[in-house]
Amino acid sequence: MTLPKNKHHQNKNHIPVLLDEVIELLDPLQGESYLDLTVGYGGHAKAVLEKTCQPQKAVLVDRDRTALASLGDLRDAGASLVHKDFAQAVHDIRLSEERFDIIMMDLGVSSPQLDNGERGFSFRFDAPLDMRMDQTAGKSAKDLVNDLPEQVLASILKEYGEEPKAKRIARAIVNHRPVSTTSELADIVEKIYRRRGRIHPATRTFQALRIATNGELEQLQKTLPLIPEILNEGGRLAAISFHSLEDRLVKRFLKTEFDQGYEARMRPLTKKPIVSASQSVHNPRARSAKLRGAVKIKQKQNERGMTNAYRRN
Ligand SMILES: C[S@@+](CC[C@H](N)C(=O)[O-])C[C@H]1O[C@@H](n2cnc3c(N)ncnc32)[C@H](O)[C@@H]1O
Repeated sequence: MTLPKNKHHQNKNHIPVLLDEVIELLDPLQGESYLDLTVGYGGHAKAVLEKTCQPQKAVLVDRDRTALASLGDLRDAGASLVHKDFAQAVHDIRLSEERFDIIMMDLGVSSPQLDNGERGFSFRFDAPLDMRMDQTAGKSAKDLVNDLPEQVLASILKEYGEEPKAKRIARAIVNHRPVSTTSELADIVEKIYRRRGRIHPATRTFQALRIATNGELEQLQKTLPLIPEILNEGGRLAAISFHSLEDRLVKRFLKTEFDQGYEARMRPLTKKPIVSASQSVHNPRARSAKLRGAVKIKQKQNERGMTNAYRRN
């Protein structure tokens, strides 16, 4: 199999985060099957497939058509590209016979999504307030800010953005309706804060609306419990999260599994999340990245009755 050679598995616009750490954690072996639930521009996928040498046993999922369109080389090498949200993709896989040795989840948005002003994810560019990862479906951020009741908006800003002035911002948004562009929204927030610190005052508002627009936490909540069902025994999961709300869900899922004792299906591979200081220089988006991993326990190991002390190692 010849995979497209790309020295650092990097699309020029998207640097995969914690790449070496992911490969070390997943330890892909020749012949293994691979499911990437957030393939994006394929940085992690290409590095994994270089080890498994089995692109025809790879299923690469993304809800963003533009990202998938950049992966013609992997499709030509035999990989299946799937345009779906990952909750739907995992639901469908579970109903099929297909099972995987390696599953990758690199959550959140890609740099090209953030850096393409027209997508409306960032206050750095004046554009329609869209923020949908899947531009073919669902409500945009503009629909949310203009249609949701003030209290619901406030709770989105508080919960998903941990925004201390959530109520005031929600009220100002409602008073300024219709709000159509990224700049209009950023101005509303800036007026409330008056002074600018190191971080733009609209950062938390934009994060909150992005999470709500894409149902990011619901996606993760629906998907994680199904992961053990679509992994082969001995199969590994790696999950990279970019904010505490996501990381908390991954951490809780792994802990819940582990607390099942002999019933547990997954064993964590990381006691603490893996973070990397060095990459922040090259990719500021990755500064907050946290990598966690787990392996699906082999049934025989469970039946043999490992002690909890052993299991905890
Ligand atoms: C951080 S990027 C992944 C980058 C990728 N690992 C790489 O190396 O190029 C996250 C990607 O996941 C996709 N994504 C996020 N949430 C998703 C979901 N619920 N279902 C499907 N795709 C999702 C985004 O559209 C984006 O392309």
